Amino acid sequence: MHVFSRLVVTFMDTLDLHDARKRYHFALPPEDYGRLPFYSALLGELEEDPLALRLLAGVRAEQRNPMLVLAALHLAALRGHPILGPIYEEARHGQLGDAEKAARRVLEVVRETKEIVSDELWRSTQTNEPGRSAVLQAVVADLVKESSVINLIEVGCSAGINLCFDQFPVRAEDDGVPLTLICQDLTPVDRERPLPAVAARIGIDPQPLDLGDIDDRLWLKACLWPEERRRHDRFDAVVAARPAWPTAAVLRGTAAERLTDALALCDESVTTVVFNTWVAYYFSPDEQREYFNALTDLCLEGNVAWISMESTMVKWPGVELDGAAHVKGASQIVVTRPDSSPQLWGWCHPHGRWLEKITTS
Ligand SMILES: C[S@@+](CC[C@H](N)C(=O)[O-])C[C@H]1O[C@@H](n2cnc3c(N)ncnc32)[C@H](O)[C@@H]1O
Repeated sequence: MHVFSRLVVTFMDTLDLHDARKRYHFALPPEDYGRLPFYSALLGELEEDPLALRLLAGVRAEQRNPMLVLAALHLAALRGHPILGPIYEEARHGQLGDAEKAARRVLEVVRETKEIVSDELWRSTQTNEPGRSAVLQAVVADLVKESSVINLIEVGCSAGINLCFDQFPVRAEDDGVPLTLICQDLTPVDRERPLPAVAARIGIDPQPLDLGDIDDRLWLKACLWPEERRRHDRFDAVVAARPAWPTAAVLRGTAAERLTDALALCDESVTTVVFNTWVAYYFSPDEQREYFNALTDLCLEGNVAWISMESTMVKWPGVELDGAAHVKGASQIVVTRPDSSPQLWGWCHPHGRWLEKITTS
Protein backbone atom coordinates (compact mmCIF):
# COMPACT_ATOMS: atom_id res chain seq x y z
CA MET A 1 0.00 0.00 0.00
CA HIS A 2 1.18 3.51 -0.76
CA VAL A 3 2.54 5.32 2.32
CA PHE A 4 -0.01 8.13 1.98
CA SER A 5 -3.03 5.81 1.75
CA ARG A 6 -1.71 3.91 4.75
CA LEU A 7 -1.61 7.15 6.73
CA VAL A 8 -5.16 8.00 5.67
CA VAL A 9 -6.39 4.58 6.81
CA THR A 10 -4.65 5.06 10.15
CA PHE A 11 -6.09 8.53 10.73
CA MET A 12 -9.58 7.46 9.71
CA ASP A 13 -9.53 4.47 11.92
CA THR A 14 -9.30 4.20 15.67
CA LEU A 15 -7.77 0.73 15.28
CA ASP A 16 -4.01 0.59 15.57
CA LEU A 17 -3.19 -0.75 12.12
CA HIS A 18 0.49 0.08 12.42
CA ASP A 19 0.69 -2.15 15.49
CA ALA A 20 -1.19 -4.94 13.67
CA ARG A 21 1.25 -4.70 10.76
CA LYS A 22 4.22 -5.04 13.12
CA ARG A 23 2.61 -8.03 14.77
CA TYR A 24 2.20 -9.83 11.44
CA HIS A 25 5.72 -8.87 10.46
CA PHE A 26 7.34 -10.29 13.58
CA ALA A 27 5.00 -13.26 14.08
CA LEU A 28 7.55 -15.96 13.28
CA PRO A 29 11.02 -16.31 14.75
CA PRO A 30 13.32 -15.34 11.84
CA GLU A 31 14.97 -18.76 11.95
CA ASP A 32 11.64 -20.34 10.90
CA TYR A 33 11.02 -18.33 7.74
CA GLY A 34 13.18 -20.55 5.55
CA ARG A 35 11.47 -23.78 6.50
CA LEU A 36 7.91 -22.37 6.39
CA PRO A 37 7.56 -20.79 2.91
CA PHE A 38 3.74 -20.86 2.94
CA TYR A 39 3.26 -19.28 6.38
CA SER A 40 6.04 -16.77 5.64
CA ALA A 41 4.32 -15.76 2.38
CA LEU A 42 0.91 -15.67 4.06
CA LEU A 43 2.15 -13.41 6.86
CA GLY A 44 3.72 -11.19 4.19
CA GLU A 45 0.34 -10.89 2.45
CA LEU A 46 -1.55 -10.32 5.70
CA GLU A 47 0.70 -7.47 6.78
CA GLU A 48 0.04 -5.63 3.51
CA ASP A 49 -3.72 -6.15 3.46
CA PRO A 50 -5.94 -3.43 4.99
CA LEU A 51 -8.72 -5.88 5.86
CA ALA A 52 -6.31 -8.33 7.50
CA LEU A 53 -4.80 -5.43 9.48
CA ARG A 54 -8.24 -4.37 10.62
CA LEU A 55 -9.21 -7.90 11.62
CA LEU A 56 -6.15 -8.29 13.83
CA ALA A 57 -6.31 -4.76 15.22
CA GLY A 58 -9.90 -5.39 16.30
CA VAL A 59 -9.08 -8.43 18.42
CA ARG A 60 -9.22 -7.91 22.22
CA ALA A 61 -5.83 -6.71 23.39
CA GLU A 62 -4.65 -9.83 25.23
CA GLN A 63 -5.31 -12.03 22.18
CA ARG A 64 -4.08 -9.67 19.46
CA ASN A 65 -1.77 -12.31 18.10
CA PRO A 66 -1.40 -13.09 14.36
CA MET A 67 -1.45 -16.77 15.32
CA LEU A 68 -5.15 -16.37 16.11
CA VAL A 69 -5.85 -15.18 12.54
CA LEU A 70 -3.65 -17.94 11.09
CA ALA A 71 -5.42 -20.54 13.24
CA ALA A 72 -8.87 -19.27 12.16
CA LEU A 73 -7.87 -19.75 8.50
CA HIS A 74 -6.38 -23.16 9.24
CA LEU A 75 -9.59 -24.13 11.05
CA ALA A 76 -11.64 -23.30 7.95
CA ALA A 77 -9.26 -25.46 5.91
CA LEU A 78 -9.55 -28.36 8.36
CA ARG A 79 -13.33 -28.04 8.22
CA GLY A 80 -13.13 -28.64 4.48
CA HIS A 81 -13.27 -25.17 2.92
CA PRO A 82 -13.23 -25.89 -0.84
CA ILE A 83 -10.31 -23.56 -1.60
CA LEU A 84 -8.41 -23.48 1.69
CA GLY A 85 -8.75 -27.22 2.36
CA PRO A 86 -6.63 -28.34 -0.62
CA ILE A 87 -4.07 -25.52 -0.16
CA TYR A 88 -3.42 -26.41 3.50
CA GLU A 89 -3.43 -30.13 2.74
CA GLU A 90 -0.73 -29.61 0.11
CA ALA A 91 1.23 -27.39 2.50
CA ARG A 92 1.13 -30.16 5.12
CA HIS A 93 2.50 -32.68 2.66
CA GLY A 94 5.17 -30.36 1.25
CA GLN A 95 3.41 -30.37 -2.12
CA LEU A 96 2.58 -26.70 -2.42
CA GLY A 97 4.31 -25.65 -5.62
CA ASP A 98 4.15 -21.86 -5.39
CA ALA A 99 3.81 -20.67 -1.79
CA GLU A 100 3.41 -17.01 -2.78
CA LYS A 101 0.58 -17.83 -5.17
CA ALA A 102 -1.16 -19.98 -2.55
CA ALA A 103 -0.83 -17.17 0.02
CA ARG A 104 -2.40 -14.69 -2.41
CA ARG A 105 -5.27 -17.12 -3.01
CA VAL A 106 -5.86 -17.38 0.74
CA LEU A 107 -6.04 -13.59 0.96
CA GLU A 108 -8.60 -13.52 -1.85
CA VAL A 109 -10.72 -15.92 0.19
CA VAL A 110 -10.42 -13.65 3.25
CA ARG A 111 -11.53 -10.64 1.18
CA GLU A 112 -14.49 -12.59 -0.24
CA THR A 113 -15.58 -14.03 3.14
CA LYS A 114 -13.99 -12.24 6.02
CA GLU A 115 -16.35 -14.12 8.38
CA ILE A 116 -14.19 -17.23 8.17
CA VAL A 117 -11.71 -15.20 10.23
CA SER A 118 -13.88 -12.69 12.07
CA ASP A 119 -16.30 -15.37 13.37
CA GLU A 120 -13.44 -17.19 15.10
CA LEU A 121 -11.70 -14.25 16.74
CA TRP A 122 -13.56 -14.80 20.02
CA ARG A 123 -11.26 -17.79 20.54
CA SER A 124 -7.84 -17.79 22.18
CA THR A 125 -4.53 -18.99 20.81
CA GLN A 126 -4.29 -22.28 22.65
CA THR A 127 -1.42 -24.03 20.91
CA ASN A 128 -0.50 -26.90 23.21
CA GLU A 129 3.07 -27.57 22.17
CA PRO A 130 4.61 -30.84 23.44
CA GLY A 131 8.04 -29.72 22.20
CA ARG A 132 8.16 -27.51 25.29
CA SER A 133 8.26 -30.70 27.37
CA ALA A 134 11.79 -31.30 26.04
CA VAL A 135 12.77 -28.00 27.63
CA LEU A 136 10.83 -28.74 30.81
CA GLN A 137 12.56 -32.09 31.25
CA ALA A 138 16.00 -30.45 31.23
CA VAL A 139 14.98 -27.56 33.46
CA VAL A 140 13.07 -29.66 36.00
CA ALA A 141 16.00 -32.10 36.25
CA ASP A 142 18.32 -29.19 36.95
CA LEU A 143 15.98 -27.36 39.29
CA VAL A 144 15.00 -30.15 41.64
CA LYS A 145 18.23 -32.17 41.70
CA GLU A 146 17.64 -33.21 45.31
CA SER A 147 13.98 -34.24 44.93
CA SER A 148 12.78 -37.66 43.89
CA VAL A 149 9.11 -36.59 43.99
CA ILE A 150 7.47 -33.29 43.01
CA ASN A 151 4.03 -31.80 42.49
CA LEU A 152 3.43 -30.12 39.16
CA ILE A 153 1.15 -27.17 38.51
CA GLU A 154 0.83 -25.86 34.97
CA VAL A 155 -0.65 -22.39 34.62
CA GLY A 156 -2.30 -22.01 31.19
CA CYS A 157 -2.31 -25.73 30.46
CA SER A 158 -4.58 -25.65 27.36
CA ALA A 159 -5.26 -29.41 26.87
CA GLY A 160 -2.69 -30.31 29.54
CA ILE A 161 -0.25 -32.13 27.26
CA ASN A 162 2.81 -30.71 29.02
CA LEU A 163 1.53 -31.89 32.39
CA CYS A 164 2.81 -35.22 31.05
CA PHE A 165 6.20 -33.71 30.23
CA ASP A 166 7.94 -36.81 31.55
CA GLN A 167 6.19 -39.20 29.15
CA PHE A 168 8.04 -38.08 26.01
CA PRO A 169 11.32 -39.46 24.70
CA VAL A 170 13.68 -36.62 23.72
CA ARG A 171 16.31 -37.04 21.00
CA ALA A 172 18.65 -34.75 19.12
CA GLU A 173 17.83 -36.48 15.83
CA ASP A 174 14.50 -37.59 14.45
CA ASP A 175 14.04 -41.31 15.04
CA GLY A 176 10.79 -41.39 13.10
CA VAL A 177 8.71 -42.15 16.22
CA PRO A 178 5.86 -39.59 16.26
CA LEU A 179 5.94 -39.07 20.04
CA THR A 180 9.67 -38.31 20.12
CA LEU A 181 10.52 -34.69 20.83
CA ILE A 182 13.46 -33.49 18.79
CA CYS A 183 15.54 -30.96 20.65
CA GLN A 184 19.10 -29.81 20.01
CA ASP A 185 20.90 -29.03 23.26
CA LEU A 186 23.25 -26.20 22.29
CA THR A 187 24.96 -26.41 25.68
CA PRO A 188 25.31 -29.51 27.85
CA VAL A 189 22.19 -30.27 29.88
CA ASP A 190 21.62 -33.30 32.03
CA ARG A 191 19.26 -35.68 30.29
CA GLU A 192 20.66 -38.76 32.03
CA ARG A 193 19.39 -37.93 35.50
CA PRO A 194 16.06 -39.72 36.14
CA LEU A 195 13.19 -37.26 36.29
CA PRO A 196 11.43 -37.00 39.65
CA ALA A 197 8.19 -38.91 40.16
CA VAL A 198 5.13 -36.67 40.08
CA ALA A 199 2.75 -36.86 43.04
CA ALA A 200 0.10 -34.49 41.66
CA ARG A 201 -0.43 -32.96 38.22
CA ILE A 202 -2.69 -29.93 38.22
CA GLY A 203 -3.54 -27.62 35.36
CA ILE A 204 -5.17 -24.20 35.41
CA ASP A 205 -6.79 -22.60 32.38
CA PRO A 206 -9.76 -20.27 31.81
CA GLN A 207 -10.72 -22.37 28.77
CA PRO A 208 -9.26 -25.83 29.26
CA LEU A 209 -9.41 -28.00 26.14
CA ASP A 210 -10.22 -31.68 26.10
CA LEU A 211 -8.27 -34.03 23.84
CA GLY A 212 -11.32 -36.31 23.90
CA ASP A 213 -13.55 -33.64 22.35
CA ILE A 214 -13.64 -33.47 18.57
CA ASP A 215 -14.11 -29.66 18.37
CA ASP A 216 -11.33 -29.01 20.86
CA ARG A 217 -9.03 -31.32 18.91
CA LEU A 218 -9.80 -29.44 15.70
CA TRP A 219 -8.94 -26.09 17.30
CA LEU A 220 -5.71 -27.52 18.75
CA LYS A 221 -4.80 -28.76 15.26
CA ALA A 222 -5.70 -25.41 13.73
CA CYS A 223 -3.23 -23.76 16.12
CA LEU A 224 -0.43 -25.89 14.65
CA TRP A 225 1.44 -24.66 11.60
CA PRO A 226 0.29 -26.56 8.51
CA GLU A 227 3.77 -27.01 7.04
CA GLU A 228 5.00 -28.89 10.11
CA ARG A 229 3.75 -32.36 9.40
CA ARG A 230 5.84 -33.75 12.26
CA ARG A 231 3.83 -31.68 14.75
CA HIS A 232 0.54 -32.88 13.28
CA ASP A 233 1.65 -36.52 13.47
CA ARG A 234 2.85 -35.97 17.01
CA PHE A 235 -0.43 -34.41 18.01
CA ASP A 236 -2.28 -37.49 16.70
CA ALA A 237 0.13 -39.72 18.62
CA VAL A 238 -0.45 -37.72 21.82
CA VAL A 239 -4.22 -38.06 21.43
CA ALA A 240 -3.80 -41.83 21.07
CA ALA A 241 -1.34 -42.13 23.98
CA ARG A 242 -2.97 -39.75 26.46
CA PRO A 243 -5.51 -42.22 27.98
CA ALA A 244 -2.64 -44.42 29.19
CA TRP A 245 -0.68 -41.54 30.72
CA PRO A 246 -1.00 -40.34 34.35
CA THR A 247 -4.16 -38.44 35.19
CA ALA A 248 -4.21 -34.70 35.85
CA ALA A 249 -6.72 -32.45 37.57
CA VAL A 250 -7.63 -29.39 35.54
CA LEU A 251 -9.08 -26.31 37.22
CA ARG A 252 -11.07 -23.89 35.11
CA GLY A 253 -10.17 -20.25 35.76
CA THR A 254 -7.31 -17.80 35.59
CA ALA A 255 -4.04 -18.11 37.46
CA ALA A 256 -5.18 -15.41 39.88
CA GLU A 257 -8.42 -17.26 40.57
CA ARG A 258 -7.18 -20.84 40.87
CA LEU A 259 -3.54 -20.95 42.01
CA THR A 260 -4.47 -21.29 45.69
CA ASP A 261 -6.90 -24.12 44.85
CA ALA A 262 -4.20 -25.86 42.86
CA LEU A 263 -1.71 -25.61 45.72
CA ALA A 264 -4.29 -27.08 48.09
CA LEU A 265 -4.36 -30.24 45.94
CA CYS A 266 -0.60 -30.74 46.27
CA ASP A 267 1.32 -33.02 48.60
CA GLU A 268 2.85 -30.47 51.00
CA SER A 269 5.77 -32.70 51.89
CA VAL A 270 7.38 -32.41 48.45
CA THR A 271 8.52 -29.54 46.24
CA THR A 272 5.85 -28.04 44.01
CA VAL A 273 7.00 -26.93 40.57
CA VAL A 274 4.75 -24.30 39.02
CA PHE A 275 5.33 -23.61 35.34
CA ASN A 276 3.97 -21.44 32.57
CA THR A 277 4.97 -21.74 28.93
CA TRP A 278 3.74 -19.03 26.56
CA VAL A 279 0.97 -17.95 28.91
CA ALA A 280 2.07 -14.76 30.69
CA TYR A 281 2.50 -13.27 27.21
CA TYR A 282 -1.34 -13.17 27.12
CA PHE A 283 -1.69 -11.49 30.53
CA SER A 284 -2.41 -7.79 30.94
CA PRO A 285 0.47 -5.81 32.54
CA ASP A 286 -1.45 -5.84 35.85
CA GLU A 287 -1.98 -9.60 35.64
CA GLN A 288 1.71 -10.11 34.88
CA ARG A 289 2.73 -8.03 37.89
CA GLU A 290 0.31 -9.83 40.24
CA TYR A 291 1.35 -13.23 38.93
CA PHE A 292 5.04 -12.41 39.36
CA ASN A 293 4.48 -11.20 42.93
CA ALA A 294 2.41 -14.27 43.80
CA LEU A 295 4.95 -16.71 42.40
CA THR A 296 8.03 -15.04 43.84
CA ASP A 297 6.34 -14.87 47.27
CA LEU A 298 5.46 -18.56 47.06
CA CYS A 299 9.05 -19.47 46.19
CA LEU A 300 10.37 -17.42 49.10
CA GLU A 301 7.84 -18.71 51.61
CA GLY A 302 7.47 -22.35 50.84
CA ASN A 303 8.74 -25.39 49.05
CA VAL A 304 7.85 -24.02 45.62
CA ALA A 305 9.93 -23.62 42.46
CA TRP A 306 8.80 -21.69 39.38
CA ILE A 307 9.69 -22.17 35.72
CA SER A 308 8.66 -19.52 33.23
CA MET A 309 9.22 -19.95 29.49
CA GLU A 310 7.91 -16.92 27.65
CA SER A 311 8.46 -14.48 24.83
CA THR A 312 11.01 -11.74 25.46
CA MET A 313 8.01 -9.37 25.37
CA VAL A 314 7.34 -10.57 28.93
CA LYS A 315 9.52 -8.51 31.26
CA TRP A 316 9.93 -10.00 34.72
CA PRO A 317 11.18 -7.48 37.30
CA GLY A 318 14.88 -7.86 38.04
CA VAL A 319 15.53 -10.27 35.15
CA GLU A 320 17.84 -8.55 32.69
CA LEU A 321 17.19 -9.58 29.08
CA ASP A 322 18.28 -6.55 27.11
CA GLY A 323 21.99 -7.15 27.37
CA ALA A 324 21.73 -10.93 27.02
CA ALA A 325 22.92 -12.47 23.77
CA HIS A 326 20.23 -14.64 22.26
CA VAL A 327 18.81 -15.65 18.91
CA LYS A 328 16.08 -13.30 17.70
CA GLY A 329 12.67 -14.75 18.48
CA ALA A 330 14.01 -17.11 21.16
CA SER A 331 12.01 -17.69 24.33
CA GLN A 332 13.46 -16.79 27.72
CA ILE A 333 13.60 -19.44 30.43
CA VAL A 334 13.51 -17.94 33.91
CA VAL A 335 13.65 -20.12 37.01
CA THR A 336 13.06 -19.38 40.67
CA ARG A 337 14.32 -21.96 43.11
CA PRO A 338 12.75 -22.37 46.55
CA ASP A 339 13.95 -19.55 48.78
CA SER A 340 15.55 -17.69 45.87
CA SER A 341 14.80 -14.94 43.42
CA PRO A 342 14.17 -15.32 39.66
CA GLN A 343 17.16 -16.00 37.45
CA LEU A 344 17.57 -16.28 33.70
CA TRP A 345 18.30 -19.99 33.14
CA GLY A 346 18.63 -19.98 29.39
CA TRP A 347 16.99 -19.71 25.99
CA CYS A 348 15.04 -21.99 23.70
CA HIS A 349 13.12 -22.10 20.46
CA PRO A 350 9.45 -21.23 21.19
CA HIS A 351 8.48 -24.81 20.33
CA GLY A 352 11.47 -26.42 22.03
CA ARG A 353 13.43 -27.23 18.86
CA TRP A 354 16.65 -26.21 20.64
CA LEU A 355 17.77 -25.31 24.14
CA GLU A 356 20.65 -23.31 25.54
CA LYS A 357 21.47 -23.19 29.23
CA ILE A 358 23.36 -20.14 30.41
CA THR A 359 23.45 -20.54 34.19
CA THR A 360 26.19 -22.56 35.79
CA SER A 361 24.31 -23.86 38.84
C1 LIG B 1 -0.56 -20.32 23.82
S1 LIG B 1 -1.44 -21.32 24.95
C2 LIG B 1 -0.07 -22.23 25.67
C3 LIG B 1 -0.51 -23.55 26.25
C4 LIG B 1 0.56 -24.36 26.95
N1 LIG B 1 1.09 -23.63 28.08
C5 LIG B 1 1.67 -24.76 26.03
O1 LIG B 1 2.76 -24.18 26.15
O2 LIG B 1 1.50 -25.64 25.21
C6 LIG B 1 -1.88 -20.17 26.25
C7 LIG B 1 -2.88 -20.75 27.24
O3 LIG B 1 -2.95 -19.85 28.35
C8 LIG B 1 -4.28 -19.79 28.77
N2 LIG B 1 -4.49 -18.54 29.56
C9 LIG B 1 -4.72 -17.31 29.07
N3 LIG B 1 -4.88 -16.43 30.09
C10 LIG B 1 -4.73 -17.14 31.24
C11 LIG B 1 -4.78 -16.80 32.63
N4 LIG B 1 -5.02 -15.55 33.02
N5 LIG B 1 -4.56 -17.77 33.54
C12 LIG B 1 -4.31 -19.03 33.13
N6 LIG B 1 -4.25 -19.41 31.83
C13 LIG B 1 -4.46 -18.48 30.90
C14 LIG B 1 -5.08 -19.86 27.47
O4 LIG B 1 -6.43 -20.24 27.68
C15 LIG B 1 -4.28 -20.89 26.69
O5 LIG B 1 -4.78 -22.20 26.87
